[in-house]
Amino acid sequence: MSTHAQAVHAIGTVTKSSAHIAVYRGGRLYPAALLTAGAAAIHFAVVPEHLHEYWPFGIFFLLLGVAQIAVALATLLLPNRLLFAGAAAGTLAVLTLWVVSRTTGLPISPLPGRPEMLGAPDLMTAVLEAVAVLLFGLLTRPPRPLHRSARPIWRVVRAGLGAGGLLLTTLLIGIVTTVGVGAALNPMPDALNMGSAVPGRPAISVNSLKEAPGVQPVKSFTLTAAVGHAAGQEVWAYNGTVPGPELRVRVGDRLRVTLINHLPAATSIHWHGVRLPNAEDGVVGVTQDAVPPGGTFTYEFVVKDAGTYWYHSHQDTMQQVPRGLYGALIVDPPDGPHYDRDYVVALGNLAAGFNGRFTVNGSPNDVRLAAQPGELVRLRVINAVPGDMAGSPELLTLTGAPYTVIALDGHDLHEPQVLGPLLLPVGAGQRYDLAFRMPAGGQVRLLDAQPAVAQPTLRPIAVSLGEGVGPAQPNLSTLPTFDLTSYGTPAPDPIATHAGFDVSADLHIQSAAGFRDGTIQLIHRLNGQAAPDTAPVIVHIGQVVRLRFINETNEYHPMHLHGHIFAILSKNARPLTGSPVHVDAVLVGPHETWEVAFPADNPGLWMLHCHVLLHAAMGLDMMVNYADIATPYTMGTLSGNISE
Ligand code: C2O
Ligand code: CU
Ligand code: CU
Repeated sequence: MSTHAQAVHAIGTVTKSSAHIAVYRGGRLYPAALLTAGAAAIHFAVVPEHLHEYWPFGIFFLLLGVAQIAVALATLLLPNRLLFAGAAAGTLAVLTLWVVSRTTGLPISPLPGRPEMLGAPDLMTAVLEAVAVLLFGLLTRPPRPLHRSARPIWRVVRAGLGAGGLLLTTLLIGIVTTVGVGAALNPMPDALNMGSAVPGRPAISVNSLKEAPGVQPVKSFTLTAAVGHAAGQEVWAYNGTVPGPELRVRVGDRLRVTLINHLPAATSIHWHGVRLPNAEDGVVGVTQDAVPPGGTFTYEFVVKDAGTYWYHSHQDTMQQVPRGLYGALIVDPPDGPHYDRDYVVALGNLAAGFNGRFTVNGSPNDVRLAAQPGELVRLRVINAVPGDMAGSPELLTLTGAPYTVIALDGHDLHEPQVLGPLLLPVGAGQRYDLAFRMPAGGQVRLLDAQPAVAQPTLRPIAVSLGEGVGPAQPNLSTLPTFDLTSYGTPAPDPIATHAGFDVSADLHIQSAAGFRDGTIQLIHRLNGQAAPDTAPVIVHIGQVVRLRFINETNEYHPMHLHGHIFAILSKNARPLTGSPVHVDAVLVGPHETWEVAFPADNPGLWMLHCHVLLHAAMGLDMMVNYADIATPYTMGTLSGNISE
């Protein structure tokens, strides 16, 4: 009997002989086994997380992994068509289960009937399994007799090709498996408590850190978050508009805002830049649970500081803010606004992701604002753009009138000088307030350069005020950039000149690719750790805290602290020479070092994060925690509280 005949006859028998291998040779047997083993490896990797979260799933994936290893071994050691048919059917069943879990949801699960989130581990497993089903399916066909090439040279070529193919296949399966396992071993947290309470020591709950009752004039608003349409596209909006309604109050007012959630997702409202009681901060998983669809939540606080602030969702922030969930909060001083015209100019980027459309006050077109010759105008620029990976600031230019920058992040500058055309770098989340007098004739224009610092070009959008001819367009590439470290004139600043700081922390900002939150991403770290593993800065009431941001990346990072105001001390070790600067976010450019200080005068658990929402979502967050504060809320997949 020839070798061929022997091999063909051996099919269907379970005797162990080299003949089997010969029959199923042709590059299917080994990859099918390897794919199945790869899927098993990822399943083993997800076991610990699932045992912790919902043990039946943990047991299921453990058993599934064991079964897949058995199939992989049997495929190599006891290849037969019955096994292949069983493996194809079994793997297809597992794939089907996965599709159901990701589309309609499973009846038995921690959240029955709700679709689970798609992650890198399950995507990688699905790819491996889908190819395995195909190969096992092909293997169930009766094998063709092997052709032996007449000439030895062809045998050598064929063997070479086969070995190369096998190597490549092994490499590919290896990569997919490694990504799946790496992602699975670094899952999204399931229930993290960000509190600073220590067992055995009395603690204060964030829930008790509320505004005391008082007789302040109450300003009530209702913000209904719902899916809507604006600028010709679907948006998530407060009261149907993007940005949401401008909330205008006066210092000393008691602001009461009821959020009604008609969105298909949970949400919250954060009051950006406002010094308020911790319980009103809107950070899901820290100061409250995200408000579920159909739910409501009321925020209430007395407004302490005049200036330009804003509000935005702090649940799944990277998705919800670009969809339209933001608006202006303007606080007038006790003696009222002092301008003939007082306008908000909110820069946004509508729709999720990088490809959103740039908008001013929700409009993708040029914006016209009324102003008469000689009138005094205040423009409150709010940068609600989520920011791209570079994190570059918007670069604004005002032309047509001399102007002053009167406030940064809502806080007045001391004796600001009159400026000509400049590039004003407004980082994500920051505010610039500009004041100028309308000329006797012609328009004043605010232009925004594309945030490409090397070669600025104009965005196809501008704000124009007044009537008549517009000013000549400046050459952006020759304009100097506004420097807040030498603008205005010095004035006493007790925080900046505080003798010795009670707490000091150096925060090195770093970025590198790695596994995080169940996926591969450009992880952004503070002192070597990404959120939620970043070490909090612990403070006590009455202390003055100094932070030094050391940017080791090529990106911009507007570092923002909740509930407090930074006094800027220095940039690259050079102290400010102009006005004191008080901000809630300091824009730390590539490889720059900025030093800030703030008084610990507002107990609670406060987030400190980069306001480039992409960076925050990739780990650039930490906490400034007052000692002994407890929170009943948790962040992670169990509560669904995802702050960033
Ligand atoms: Cu405007 Cu935590 O952010
Ligand atoms: Cu904030
Ligand atoms: Cu950043």
